Amino acid sequence: MRLPFKTLDDVELDEKRVLIRVDMNCSLDPDTKKIINDSRIRAMTPTLHELEQCKVVLMAHQGRPGSDDFISLEQHTEILRKLGFNAHFVDDIFGDKAKRAIKEVKVGEILVLQNVRMFDGEMKKGPIEEVAKEPIVQELYPYFDLFVNDAFGAAHRSQPSIVGFTAVLPSVAGRVMEKEVRTLTEILSTDQHPWILVLGGSKVPDKVKMIKKLLEIGRADNVLLGGLIGTLFLIADKKIPESYGGVIKEFEEILPVARELIAKYSDVIMLPVDAAVERGGSRVECSFKEMQGAPFYDIGAETAELFGSIIRGAKVAFANGPMGFFEKDEFQYGTIKVLEAIADCNCTTVVGGGHVSAMAERMNLVNKITHISTGGGATMSFLTGKKLPLIEALEAAARRMDGDA
Ligand code: 3PG
Repeated sequence: MRLPFKTLDDVELDEKRVLIRVDMNCSLDPDTKKIINDSRIRAMTPTLHELEQCKVVLMAHQGRPGSDDFISLEQHTEILRKLGFNAHFVDDIFGDKAKRAIKEVKVGEILVLQNVRMFDGEMKKGPIEEVAKEPIVQELYPYFDLFVNDAFGAAHRSQPSIVGFTAVLPSVAGRVMEKEVRTLTEILSTDQHPWILVLGGSKVPDKVKMIKKLLEIGRADNVLLGGLIGTLFLIADKKIPESYGGVIKEFEEILPVARELIAKYSDVIMLPVDAAVERGGSRVECSFKEMQGAPFYDIGAETAELFGSIIRGAKVAFANGPMGFFEKDEFQYGTIKVLEAIADCNCTTVVGGGHVSAMAERMNLVNKITHISTGGGATMSFLTGKKLPLIEALEAAARRMDGDA
């Protein structure tokens, strides 16, 4: 398959000053804030190894401003060191301190800049030329010969560090980006059915938008919902009261969309039929009526059985986001059951998003799954058929590099 952008194979790397944007956004323990799943960091090591003859400066985000997982990239740098890279961290993004450190980077070294989302302008989204005007781009780009973007997980974000640099530097994709685009394109090109999407976890507004698009284009035969997104649809379907919606940010705004989707696609959207809640510190399975105000923490055994049988009959199955409150061990049951069904089903399977991928690894299922994607929202966006902003940006950069634009 011919890729629409340039890769590391298309550029001279020796002694080049390379700025690389990666997605090493990791799941954290909610109490200790320690990284509990470093799979995204491990996934990018092939790219970093190929850049060993370069002077590398690495940019990434962790969490979002205001979220519990919005932390510095020091721990990530430590993990890179443990993986054998000569990595150092600077607590700055494009100020004097960062610039001094960038000038000192030697061949074989990696300088990790601070979490790019600590700069307000990074959260802006817009056309490439617009976000390229942001100071993070304008202040940093003169220090580099090449921009490598390996942040597939954030490829659906048209933010300055993702697409802005492609307007001002020769830009290519890293190996993670390349592998994801190749594999997902290949999987999408096979027109097999039933095509099942199993969706859970948080980032509910983003996921509602994607479900809507996927349903509109008729991609999925069934969408099985659990986790926080499942809670929203249970409320929309009046299975549980509206008061349960408080845990979902932007609940008021997205509830009407969920209602509309339930009404229009009732034969496609499959909701949990029972729940697991926490009582006296333990998991208790119950019907919706028996929840008594306790939040929906997982799908119950009946739902796990139902979802499992649908998945086992699939030809293509995508899973993204946990079925329950994954951070608590006793509420991992639903996610484990979904993954077991995915591993059992004799079909093309893709698992994406940090939590579920980490669980698949822990369950030793990696070899039984067609593709473990580093993307969560990015993979979902890709499935909708819409060209991701990062791919568009790399394509435009390739045209410029060839002198066609
Ligand atoms: C992800 O975890 O899906 C990516 O890192 C993108 O993060 P975002 O949804 O906060 O932009």
